[in-house]
Amino acid sequence: MNTMKPDISLSEQIPVTEPERQYYYIEKAKEYVKNLEAQIGHQPTFCVVTFGCQMNARDSEKLVGILRKIGYAEEEKEENADFVIYNTCTVRENANMRVYGRLGQLNRVKKKRPHMMIGLCGCMMQEPEVVEKLKKSYRFVDLIFGTHNIYKFAELITTRFESDRMVIDIWKDTDKIVEDLPSERKFHFKSGVNIMFGCNNFCSYCIVPYVRGRERSRDPKAIVREIERLVADGVVEIMLLGQNVNSYGKNLDEPMSFAELLQEIEKIEGLERIRFMTSHPKDLSDELIEVMKNSKKICKHLHLPVQSGSTEILKKMNRRYTKEQYLDLVERIKTAIPDISLTTDIIVGFPGETEEDFEDTMDIVKKVRYDSAFTFIYSKRTGTPAAVMENQVPDDVVHERFDRLLAEVQKISAEVCSVHEGKTVSVLVESVNDHDDTLVTGRMSNNLLVHFPGEADLIGKIVEVHLDECKGFYYLGTRA
Ligand code: 5AD
Ligand code: SF4
Repeated sequence: MNTMKPDISLSEQIPVTEPERQYYYIEKAKEYVKNLEAQIGHQPTFCVVTFGCQMNARDSEKLVGILRKIGYAEEEKEENADFVIYNTCTVRENANMRVYGRLGQLNRVKKKRPHMMIGLCGCMMQEPEVVEKLKKSYRFVDLIFGTHNIYKFAELITTRFESDRMVIDIWKDTDKIVEDLPSERKFHFKSGVNIMFGCNNFCSYCIVPYVRGRERSRDPKAIVREIERLVADGVVEIMLLGQNVNSYGKNLDEPMSFAELLQEIEKIEGLERIRFMTSHPKDLSDELIEVMKNSKKICKHLHLPVQSGSTEILKKMNRRYTKEQYLDLVERIKTAIPDISLTTDIIVGFPGETEEDFEDTMDIVKKVRYDSAFTFIYSKRTGTPAAVMENQVPDDVVHERFDRLLAEVQKISAEVCSVHEGKTVSVLVESVNDHDDTLVTGRMSNNLLVHFPGEADLIGKIVEVHLDECKGFYYLGTRA
C-alpha cells in the first residue's frame, strides 16, 4: 500500500510524548484515508465488532473515535466495510472459536475486495499462541495489536498504510495510562468510564490477569475531569469500569479508596446516576456499603460474582472468601440497603467439583436470591493453574448441573423481579421499543427494564414511571 504515500512534510518532528504523538498520527492517517477515498471512489467505511465485556465495549468506543477522526464512516455490515476490526475476548474458549469462524468468512469477502483491511485487537491477541496461529494461517489479516497499546491505534493504522505486511504490535504489560484521546460514545446520555485497568487477583480459572496485565488505577482527577466533560456533553449516567473496582486506588501515589472516589464523583453537578462493575467480594468494604446507602446517585445494584457456593472450590479458585463470608457480606449489604438488586456470575464444572460442591452453589443461589445470574460452563484456559488441575468434570455431568442451576436461577429471578409491581420508580429512557414504536424502554436504578407509552424525545431523560405489570424479567408501565 506504500504507493499511496501522501505528501506530508516530514520536516516536522514526530512528538515523543502522548497523547500529542497520537494526534500527530491522526493527521497523518487522515491523508492516507483521503488517498484511499480517491482510489476506491467513496468515503472509506469501518465496522468495529466487539466481543466480551463492558471493558471491551468501552475500548471499541475509543477505536471508533479514532476511525471517525481520520475520516472513516461507520458501516453496520462487516462484509460491506472497508476496514473491519474485531475487538476480541478470550475469557472462554467459545469466544475464540467465534473469532476464527468469522475471520474465515471475511477472508472470502476480502478476496473479492482486496483493498479491505482487517484489524484484530483485544484480549485474545495477548495470547502468544493465538498470534502464532494468525501469522501462520490467517495471513490476510492486516493489523494485530493488544490491550495495552490500544491508544496507539492511529499510529498503527499509519504504519499499516506505509507497509505491505501484516503489522503486529503486542505488549506483554504496561504501567502506562494515556489520557485525553478521542472516543465516540454509543449512547449520548450514558457512558462507561474506565477507572482502572488489569487485575492482580489470579483466580485460578481466569485468563484476564495474563491478558490485561497488572492492576493500574487512573488518577482520580483525570476520572473526574472526564466525567465532567461527559456531563457537559449530555451524559446523565456513568458506569465506572474495572475488573475489580473495590481495589481501586491502592497503587496510586496518593492512595485513595473506591468509596472515596465515589464520593468525589457524586459531587459532579448534572450527573444523575452512577453504576460500577465488577466488585470482588473479598475487597468490598463496609465503607462502600455506607457510601452506597447514603448516596442519591449510586444505583441500587451490585454485581457481586460468587463463582461457586462451595468453600472447597472457592479455595481452589483462589477467590479468598468462604461460602459463609460471602453470605455474611450479602447479609450486611441487604440490611444496610434493603432495596438493593444483586446479580452474580457462577461457574459450573470447575475441576474437582463434586455433586456436594454443586449443591452448595444451588444453596447459595437460594439463600441470596439474585435478581439475575450469569451462569457459565467452566472453560479450560491454557496457562491458568486450573487448566492443569486433576479431576476435570465430564461434559455430561457439567451440562446436567448447568441446566439445574439455570432453572433455579430463572425461577428465583422471576420471583425477585416481580416484587416491584405497583411501585412508581425513576427510569432513564434508553430507546424506542424494538417491537412497538408507541413504547419507549427505560432502565430503573436496579437495572430492570420497563416499557411504557412515550416518544423518542424522552430518550436520555429520567422520568417517573408506574410499574403496572411484571412480565418475568421486565415491566410494563405508564408515566406517573
Ligand atoms: N470458564 C468459565 N467462566 C469463566 N469466567 C472467567 N473465566 C472463566 C473460565 N475459564 C467467568 C467468571 C467471570 C466472568 C466474567 O466470566 O464467572 O466473573
Ligand atoms: Fe478474572 Fe478473578 Fe480478576 Fe475477575 S477478579 S478478572 S475473575 S482473575
